Amino acid sequence: MITNKQLETYWKENEDKFKDIRNSVPYQARGIWYTEAFLFCSICDILGVEAIIESGMAYGCSTEIFANYFDFNIMVVDNDQYGVFNKTSERLEKYKNLHIFNGDSYELVPAGIEKNIDTKLGIFIDGPKGSGARKLRDDILKFNNISCFGFHDYSGQNRNSIGEFDNSFITHELQFIDNFRYLDEKVIETEPGQAQHKNGPGVCVEVRI
Ligand SMILES: C[S@@+](CC[C@H](N)C(=O)[O-])C[C@H]1O[C@@H](n2cnc3c(N)ncnc32)[C@H](O)[C@@H]1O
Repeated sequence: MITNKQLETYWKENEDKFKDIRNSVPYQARGIWYTEAFLFCSICDILGVEAIIESGMAYGCSTEIFANYFDFNIMVVDNDQYGVFNKTSERLEKYKNLHIFNGDSYELVPAGIEKNIDTKLGIFIDGPKGSGARKLRDDILKFNNISCFGFHDYSGQNRNSIGEFDNSFITHELQFIDNFRYLDEKVIETEPGQAQHKNGPGVCVEVRI
């Protein structure tokens, strides 16, 4: 059982790592905020996750943070709704622990889990959104090797559609994250329009073990 205090201690101990990754990974349009990615990564690390499967790469902000944060395999699926799949794949090909798949997550994510059935997985969903994200989570809930699910854009109607979970951590509700908000200044500097979100679009991490 992870506690808020345990997470806060982890964040303090790993602040230099967070800064290094914030400095080296450029923010990308429509991307996840740094503190949001770090909440998912910190929980994966504490749980002993051994690989991540992500749905929704787009320009690759979250994917690149994950590939920097961990040495283990990161698998990401995208059906190229933004028409940037090839360009992003080329930009990220330097990460040897990253495996990128073009296709529909409703098919490729369960297939990826089956291929890694003996590996403890973290699943991150940032497309489809809202009820689509909830459907993807419910489709794969039967797999016992999933340690946690991360959901991006966990606010407003999307949050209502995804729903609430018994054992979860939410960026908008963890007070200690206020001490790390400076890590997100680069987001607003790069994409001023993102300032519409107070403290980011939100990430919820549902812990399953
Ligand atoms: C907001 S973007 C992801 C942003 C990215 N996570 C980041 O931090 O930069 C959403 C992405 O989800 C993808 N997507 C939406 N539904 C999908 C599905 N059913 N299967 C695969 N990809 C999907 C879209 O093509 C789009 O690239």
